[in-house]
Amino acid sequence: MTRSPEDEPAADGTANILALQGGGPAAANAAALQNQYEAFPYPPKDGATESDGLRTGSPSHILEIDHYIYGGERNWTKPFRALVAGGGTGDAAIMLGQQCADIGCPAEIIYLDLSAASMAIARNRAQERGLNNIIFHQGSLLGVADYGWQPFDYIDCCGVLHHLASPENGLAALVSVLHPEGGLGLMLYGAFGRTGIYDVQEIMRGITAADEDQAAQLPLLRKLLDHLPASNRLVRNPGVPHDGNHPDAELVDKFLHPQDRAYTVPDIAALCADSGLKIASFAPAGRYDPATYLVDNTLRARFNGLGLLAKAALAERIAGNIAKHILYAVPSGRPNPRPGLQPNAIPVLKHSDGATLARKISADTAFQARFDDLTVVAAAPSLTAEIMRRIDNQTSLEDIYFDMVSDNPGLNWNGFIVQIRELYGALHGLLNAMFLRYENDGPPFKKQNPIP
Ligand SMILES: C[S@@+](CC[C@H](N)C(=O)[O-])C[C@H]1O[C@@H](n2cnc3c(N)ncnc32)[C@H](O)[C@@H]1O
Repeated sequence: MTRSPEDEPAADGTANILALQGGGPAAANAAALQNQYEAFPYPPKDGATESDGLRTGSPSHILEIDHYIYGGERNWTKPFRALVAGGGTGDAAIMLGQQCADIGCPAEIIYLDLSAASMAIARNRAQERGLNNIIFHQGSLLGVADYGWQPFDYIDCCGVLHHLASPENGLAALVSVLHPEGGLGLMLYGAFGRTGIYDVQEIMRGITAADEDQAAQLPLLRKLLDHLPASNRLVRNPGVPHDGNHPDAELVDKFLHPQDRAYTVPDIAALCADSGLKIASFAPAGRYDPATYLVDNTLRARFNGLGLLAKAALAERIAGNIAKHILYAVPSGRPNPRPGLQPNAIPVLKHSDGATLARKISADTAFQARFDDLTVVAAAPSLTAEIMRRIDNQTSLEDIYFDMVSDNPGLNWNGFIVQIRELYGALHGLLNAMFLRYENDGPPFKKQNPIP
């Protein structure tokens, strides 16, 4: 490394980004943004400790990275370099650091953020866990090309780009340090699901003085939220909490942010294309499929033949409630890494093991996915329990099939695949809880359960 912001910290931390923004209104916004995250580190931790358990989520769960970026084929015994750009209070860095440590992957995770206060929280969390695979740097992601870092296999940038004066420049900076075979996990605000938020931001700007800081504005904001009429667009949006009963940092981030914008699916596709990227997948993928919302076959047929992106753009309009887009992106020239249901695919579960889930499944089981204020239900195929109890994160679909045939003499491969497709549609497409892997030199995911 030739230079890192932590080796040469700016006197007050602000100079870093001001220098990169070149002065003017953009610099003023950048300074306001940095001040916000010094005063209100995000996400707020509110007394949570590492002994409460590992906080996991999307993007950047290791199974998602494996699936969406590497087509289920990454050998995790090989070194893994990740950058968490705008790491906040550490959720992604800690999750990645812990998951890599758990599977024995030799990882180097670089946490980068402008905010010293956020970094201090993240660093304490890593220490509490005894993680030594995370390196902490205070600085701007806009300067990432100058830090002398080796290319990254994976870059997490969750909830950050939409706060930059130029998200395009931010993404381009990240792509400049991405390995050609790597990818990114992004979260960008969704335009439709955030209906009403920008009204409140605008009202607050209209009734506060420029020198009234965010802490001083909070009591007024809480009062406003509590008094909005039923006709207000935020109040009419059931997907976004609109009462004042939330931590300060949550309210500031949502309603008093000096700089944020929201994206539609085509906006994101354009942003990615500008930086030479393509969207590998949104997650959960089913949230971006019109068929998830429209059960009528005549309507569904009209979407046949549309590409994934066109379907996604219409699905977000049908759903109307996507406030956060979570997606994985890879360099445009790469073949699509999305793995398919091949016989040698190994189904891997995120939260639980198949045997435990199988015991909870009865004939009338249905899977329920909560998409904010909308619950989507998918019926479980008839052989769900039989299949689930054989999913141990190491057994391939064909081996599951052969093991099942002895108990189910009428079963053939086609019938099995129909069942698997339905199950995968629910557990992967809707719940983002099942992924596919392929055998390689070093399968690291531990066997979860012996078949009972
Ligand atoms: C909304 S928080 C998201 C934190 C974290 N990514 C998460 O999702 O939990 C945004 C974070 O981005 C950081 N940030 C904003 N602009 C940045 C920049 N140009 N370079 C590095 N960090 C930045 C802020 O300091 C803040 O910690």
